[in-house]
Parts: sequence; structure tokens; C-alpha cells
Amino acid sequence: MMGNCPQTDLFLVGFVTSSDCAFTHHGHQFSHGIDDLEGTRNAPAVQNIAFQKEYAWDGATSHLDLFPIIPITNEVEIGETVSNVIAKLKSDGEYPRLFAEAFENGEVNNEYFFKALSQFMVMMISSNSKYDKYVREEEGGTFSETEKLGLGIFKQKCATCHKMDLFTDDAFRNNGLPPYPGINDIGRAEVTGSAADNYKFKVPSLRNVAITAPYMHDGRFGSLESVLNFYDNGVQESETLDPILKQNNRLGIDLNSEEKAALIAFLNTLTDDEYLNDKRFAEY
Ligand code: HEC
Repeated sequence: MMGNCPQTDLFLVGFVTSSDCAFTHHGHQFSHGIDDLEGTRNAPAVQNIAFQKEYAWDGATSHLDLFPIIPITNEVEIGETVSNVIAKLKSDGEYPRLFAEAFENGEVNNEYFFKALSQFMVMMISSNSKYDKYVREEEGGTFSETEKLGLGIFKQKCATCHKMDLFTDDAFRNNGLPPYPGINDIGRAEVTGSAADNYKFKVPSLRNVAITAPYMHDGRFGSLESVLNFYDNGVQESETLDPILKQNNRLGIDLNSEEKAALIAFLNTLTDDEYLNDKRFAEY
């Protein structure tokens, strides 16, 4: 499974791509939309959405039912109108029957279209990684010494933001990435209009992280090693840098090479093959 995430065509509304890659757009720094137009952000992994309150890197919406409007109408994602999508579904050979089966008086309309999508997304729950089995003391959940060491370091140095067990605290924070040259993406501030939110992005869940490269909102890092090197020595000071990343008179998080290797071993235990191979989420 690892390293084997084929690039696929957009599935219906664009943000669900290949299940092999936890539904991220693998192999691209910026996710591509219609006509191969490039966006400025890397698609986050789709999983455990049911437990989140706000969606997208900047929390552009807190309504899961309405979320698909953003990629559908975004000119570099799907570049469509909702009414046109509904018209296409109405004239499709199969969808009208599926709507009729799913809903009482099941015509194809906006309400049912968005309900169907959000119902599908809330089913997508990842909770059977090796880490989950370790926590539940189940078969297949035996950690090596290195993985245990990594878990300890993670709890101490990462879990305030990547809060367990969802591996995100669902907050918007600035983790000290220098703004990407040529693209001044101010993140959460784009939604709130407040300078206090400059360069804050939603803390991403780290479930299935080993297979969802590239990393960060702009996909600037190609490996977990680069991410850890960044936390160790690349964090940039700014007015909105999270205070957690400027403690003990140093920027970032002190990590030696043994700690980095242990952290990566631990992050690998978050891969949930049962979720990734779930036939219900297969493309066709
Ligand atoms: C102060 C909060 C904070 C701390 C502490 C923190 N992170 Fe993060 N992390 C974030 C935020 C915010 C992002 C997203 C930043 C962005 O894309 O702009 C992120 C992104 C990541 C990503 C990229 C995930 C993806 O899907 O793109 C990885 C991997 C990661 N962090 C691992 C770690 C590890 C390992 C540690 C501990 C050594 C750690 N983080 C500590 C806030 C934090």
C-alpha cells in the first residue's frame, strides 16, 4: 500500500480522490482540478470528518452539508455551478434511481444531493490502525521498542496540537512555516479578516500520514523526515507563531536523529489499511 498511490481522476466533487492515499491528491504539491488547473493548497486527507467542526485548511465552512459548494464552484477545482451539477445528475442513467431509493419522494435536488454527500463522508471513519489496536490491546497492536519511544516523544512534543486520538485539536495555529514564495496564503485570516489569524491553518489529523505526502497546506514537504527537520530547525518567528513553538529560548521543537527515527516509526503505526481498503469507499 505504501508508496503506491496512483493518481486518479476526480471523483464526483473533486476532493475524494484515491482511497489508497487516504483520499488526498498524491504526487502533486498543489492539488489539481479541472483542465489540470493548479490550486494553491494541497488537499487534506478525508477521514473522521464526522468528529470535526470546521472544514478546509482555513475553516471556510462549518457546515458539512454545504462544504461541497466550495470545490464545486471554485474555478480551479471543479469550476461548476450547483444547478448544472444537479441537471447532469438528473439526466444521468443511474443517479435518479439511486436518489429514489435513498430518499422518500426521492427526486434529484440540491438538498438530497448535499445530504447524500455528507452522509457518505461521515461514514469515512479510520479507527483500526496499529496504534488503535495498541490502545485497545488487540491482536496486531504490539508496538516495538522504537514505536513505543516514538509514542512517548509524540505525546510530549506534538500532542498538544495533534491531539490524540483524532490527532488534531481542531484549532487553527501557525506552526512557523515561512510564507511560500509568490503565494502569500494567509490561511484562517482569509475567513475571519483578522490579522491575529494570519498564517494560521487548521491542525491536520496525522492519521494515515505516512501515505499522504506531500505535507502542509501547500504540500511543500515531500517526506516525514523533511517535516521533522522543519520542526527541529526551520520554524520561523512571526507575530502569530504559536507560543508552543517558542519555548525554552528556542524556536521549534528540539529533536535529535534518534528521536526523529522513533517519531517516524510511530507515525507509521497510524496507517489504517482496513480503512484504506474499505470496499465501500472504492472508486467504482
Ligand atoms: C503548535 C502546534 C503544533 C505542534 C506542536 C506540532 N504541529 Fe504539526 N502541524 C501543525 C499545524 C498548524 C500544521 C499545518 C500547517 C500548515 O499546513 O500550514 C501541522 C502540520 C503537520 C504535518 C503535515 C500533515 C499533513 O497532512 O500535511 C505533520 C506530518 C506534522 N504536523 C507533524 C508534527 C509532529 C511529528 C510534531 C511533533 C514533533 C508536530 N507536528 C507538532 C501544528 C503543530
